[in-house]
Amino acid sequence: MATLQDNETLTRVSAGTPMGDLMRQYWIPAAKSSELTKDSDPVRLMLLGEKLVAFRDTNGKVGIMDHRCPHRCASLFFGRNEEGGIRCVYHGWKFDADGNCTDMANVPPHQDFKQKVHAKAYKTAERNGLVWVYMGDQANVPELPPFEANLLPESEVNIWFVMRECSYLQGLEGDMDTSHLGFLHYGLLKGTDFEQSAAQRYTASNKTPEYVTKTTDWGYMYAAVRGDGSDEVHMRVSQFLMPFWTMPPVNSITKNFIARAWVPMDDTHHMFVHIVQKDVDPLARKLLDGRSAGFKPGFDFKPNTTDWYGRFNLKQDMSNDFMIDREKQRTESFTGIDGITLQDFAVTESMGGIAPRELEHLAASDAAIAQTRRILINAANGFKEGKRHPSMDQAALVGKVRSGFFQAPKDGDWQKLYEEQLELAPFPTATQQAAE
Ligand code: FES
Ligand SMILES: [Fe+2]
Repeated sequence: MATLQDNETLTRVSAGTPMGDLMRQYWIPAAKSSELTKDSDPVRLMLLGEKLVAFRDTNGKVGIMDHRCPHRCASLFFGRNEEGGIRCVYHGWKFDADGNCTDMANVPPHQDFKQKVHAKAYKTAERNGLVWVYMGDQANVPELPPFEANLLPESEVNIWFVMRECSYLQGLEGDMDTSHLGFLHYGLLKGTDFEQSAAQRYTASNKTPEYVTKTTDWGYMYAAVRGDGSDEVHMRVSQFLMPFWTMPPVNSITKNFIARAWVPMDDTHHMFVHIVQKDVDPLARKLLDGRSAGFKPGFDFKPNTTDWYGRFNLKQDMSNDFMIDREKQRTESFTGIDGITLQDFAVTESMGGIAPRELEHLAASDAAIAQTRRILINAANGFKEGKRHPSMDQAALVGKVRSGFFQAPKDGDWQKLYEEQLELAPFPTATQQAAE
């Protein structure tokens, strides 16, 4: 369980709250590059409880700013994306992507004070199909974090954004909770249903793994260790990276290029941002009958709307009980819900907008969740008192972190084994990173 106070600290993300202020110290993935085309319609974005408007100007630069016009607060969502900036339709004031007022159209030239007016614009960056925004101190903007999956060319990755109707923490905690795999996703499968080479057979055959854990500068890592009576164990290493990133072990560690952000839109909504190398090894989940256990590539989206919560909503959602099929639940699937990610979404959204954590009974299998919460709370409270968490040097850290599974000798030093595995697939070099 968590106390009411801890739950508040963890889940409130507006400016001025401890967690909201902490999260503003990190770059945030805000949109797909493809959502914003030159001089096209402004897009409403909700991030950390702030209503923002995003647009791409004539030169290709992305602007993300408070949606309220600095003149008299009409929404710039209704603005005209014109040559080199966005023009408010109320009295014609115009702003470039950096928030500078470039035209005060309703004021005679001698009364113009446009150099004194700035829209509240945030620094943006773009890399390999992803638009990033930095909402902290605009005079002190850190380097963009080199997540491995975002260093791969856009053509080699899938970038999915999915709107979620619950706090970011419920989504994130699902990835720090490896023991649910054997139930929620593989509850009716036995290890012997999988092909001999399918790594996921370990998860299905041993539903009570042992855990090894480590607090790191970037957050937290742990491995679920599953033996099968032989001299080897199956290790699944997961990563939590501050403040809202996870790397789940969906593939062998030498080819698991993945990063997932659970981006808080406000206290009770988040955007799931999933960056993953294409062609995740289907063999890992292959069943003897040829099917892939629960794997469903891609998502079925409703058409986007311009609402603050209108981007990337799924057809399967709480309004239709995630299209649960009770007959299938009785006979062939533990949940009756189609698709692993949708199964995750159904249970985490079923906890409510903010899960009532004071009602929980955490078990040994929840150690990673408890530790993740502790790290977040300590970092947020520490930052309030002026202490920087080591993960704020994100650019120096995240390019050397990976998750994934591998076979290891029983009783080996798991940290050493993990580091040996990293050597087998080198991280992108600094030169490749600089080439963005
Ligand atoms: S409110 Fe935007 S120009 Fe007046
Ligand atoms: Fe899951």
